[in-house]
Amino acid sequence: MINVTKSYLPPIEEYQKYLAGIWTNSWLTNHGPLVQELEHKLKEYLGVENLLFVSNGTIALQLAIKALDLKGEIITTPFSYVATAASIIWENCTPVFADIENKSFCVNPEEIEKHINSKTSAILATHVYGNACNVSEIEKIAQKHNLKVIYDGAHAFGITINGNSIFNFGDVSTISFHATKLFHTIEGGAIITKDKKLAEKLYLYRSFGHIADDYYSVGINGKNSEFHAAMGLCNLPRVDEIVDNRKKTVLLYKSLLNGSKIFFPEKHSRQSINNSYFPVVFENKETLLSVRKALLENEVSTRRYFYPSLNNLPYLNTKYKCPVSENIAERVLCLPLYFDLNPIDVERICKIVNSVI
Ligand SMILES: Cc1ncc(COP(=O)(O)O)c(C=O)c1O
Repeated sequence: MINVTKSYLPPIEEYQKYLAGIWTNSWLTNHGPLVQELEHKLKEYLGVENLLFVSNGTIALQLAIKALDLKGEIITTPFSYVATAASIIWENCTPVFADIENKSFCVNPEEIEKHINSKTSAILATHVYGNACNVSEIEKIAQKHNLKVIYDGAHAFGITINGNSIFNFGDVSTISFHATKLFHTIEGGAIITKDKKLAEKLYLYRSFGHIADDYYSVGINGKNSEFHAAMGLCNLPRVDEIVDNRKKTVLLYKSLLNGSKIFFPEKHSRQSINNSYFPVVFENKETLLSVRKALLENEVSTRRYFYPSLNNLPYLNTKYKCPVSENIAERVLCLPLYFDLNPIDVERICKIVNSVI
């Protein structure tokens, strides 16, 4: 079976070396030396000032909403993983869905502005598949209406705009280091902010709101362990090679797929790419379902990522209509993409897809 994704695993001996160190120290969690080393190395690699390693990308979003004291309505994208909207609701705020751009699939700044009212406290936008949101327009809107901005950068590891890390935009950015991500720590994530005071608050919130015997605020357990940090330390030096390799695979896909019947999301100019996913958009839902079925019959799994459009989540009952997002969600399918995906398999997948469309 060819899965839609496969986690990168470093040579086992390297991970074992870290394990030996953990056994020697008996320091398993609670901001241990490997967590600190990973945070330091990630800050350097990404070019950001304050970064906290947390237990996953969802808790990163929840901590961001909490630390920014957000209340009322948060304008967000309907085209993202469910965690984006769920974290808003979990933090007792209301998600307001603004439709997306039809090329990048990121939230459309013009649509954001239409939904702003006296209850709006923030914008939570996702850099979909590593495609950067229109950060300059979003910043203008946020400044004009005095709103906070959180970017869900779960897919955006290593992305830069004009050489500047994408995580330096907005008030807070979050990342996921889940096992399916380009760079992973098995489970994990990070929160990034330029604001030192906010980083200190997040530091407290991540760890029950206290440092030793001094209790400052309510908090939660958002920490991550030495074992997860060790996986990150093994994977980080290989990230450039992983990105290069995925780039080659995506180029091969694009050269073999029948481009007149399929289209791909487009990034804004001047941003780098990381090929976190390989989404393709078919002419209609029926074609998508036929392609999916044909691939599955040939033991190739795909993923409807993202489906459904979040404004249509069955338990939400929202009034928002997002025709662009709903239309794309019906027609988009992620094809297999991972480090050691064999070019022969890519050729086989493309043959199957082309024979159906
Ligand atoms: C856009 C987006 N946001 C948030 C998350 C949640 O991250 P995690 O699985 O680390 O909690 C994901 C995970 O896939 C995601 O794709």
